[in-house]
Amino acid sequence: MVHQRETIGRLPAYKQGVAAGDSGAFKLSSNENPFAPLASVTDAIASALDQIQLYPSMAVTEVTDRIAARFDVAVENVAFGAGSVEVLSQLIHASAGAGDEVIFAWRSFEAYPILVQVAGATPVPIALTADERHDLDAMADAITTKTRLIVVCNPNNPTGACVTADELHAFLARVPENVLVVIDEAYVHFNRDATSAIGIDFFHRYPNVAVLHTFSKAYGLAGLRIGYAIAPTAVATNLRRVALPFGVTALAQHAALASLDAEDELVLRIDEIVAERVRVLAALRASGWHVTDSQGNFLWLRTGADTDRVNAVFMAEGILARAFSGEGLRVTIGTTTQNNRFLVAATAALAPAAI
Ligand SMILES: Cc1ncc(COP(=O)(O)O)c(C=O)c1O
Repeated sequence: MVHQRETIGRLPAYKQGVAAGDSGAFKLSSNENPFAPLASVTDAIASALDQIQLYPSMAVTEVTDRIAARFDVAVENVAFGAGSVEVLSQLIHASAGAGDEVIFAWRSFEAYPILVQVAGATPVPIALTADERHDLDAMADAITTKTRLIVVCNPNNPTGACVTADELHAFLARVPENVLVVIDEAYVHFNRDATSAIGIDFFHRYPNVAVLHTFSKAYGLAGLRIGYAIAPTAVATNLRRVALPFGVTALAQHAALASLDAEDELVLRIDEIVAERVRVLAALRASGWHVTDSQGNFLWLRTGADTDRVNAVFMAEGILARAFSGEGLRVTIGTTTQNNRFLVAATAALAPAAI
């Protein structure tokens, strides 16, 4: 057996949401956008197909210019990757290595502990509060001289809960300035909570804050892999150093530009998803489910020990949710048809033990 890092052998593989295949089931397990791509976006991708023998712009120049202008930051502050998960990996690799600690809420995005361990650093997961929110006091208490990076997922995947601006200011007052705080805003476009922290405001105000955005969710480009960080210049420079060279394809860059051009149309779709989230949440509560508010494109059912049973009912009813055995189920907001089927499944699963 060749030498391999022992830590890697112990890591759980990142688990993709179950595929629907030919089953006719609806895949609501990966927080994907339920709409087909816009014609203007597929046209932009098609127009770049005859160039795929060439390497893409490594600096992702045009999209960088657009993002820098939109958020009123310097181009030096923007760094891209093959999905925001790759940018997060860059952030962790640039900040933390063996013996260093990375703090994040738990349960949150399942890639966090994996990426931290791949970098050789130590994950410090901090349990959510009883109402499914980041426990920022406990996260601040967990800071040590070994802490190098803290991830705040807002809204949180899978619970959908938000960190308020006031809470984040109070938290940052307790974080040493040499510790980077990454605000993962993969779902920011679906966030309608007026009290929520908005990452870019914090980036403008604090020297140790970075923001992570993606084109995968609201813009519907999950399959093309493009995301970015807005980070302090020295950090963004390091992200470019550790990035996978040419990781963001020209097709992804064209699609991102076309999506930024088509934002008026995309916003309508985002609004539709948010309206569906509100409708589904109300229907669940009316039927007797206890569900906390979510500002993402998904809802969280804290089914605890009943999770496997509820998941089995969902599957039998043609709904593929993301099940965290012993904890709960995350269900993506899909089309109206998909959501209605989910509501049927949720009612079918309703039993005193389930709520
Ligand atoms: C909180 C959070 N951050 C980041 C990502 C990564 O998204 P992507 O790599 O597609 O940009 C996801 C994807 O599910 C997520 O839920």
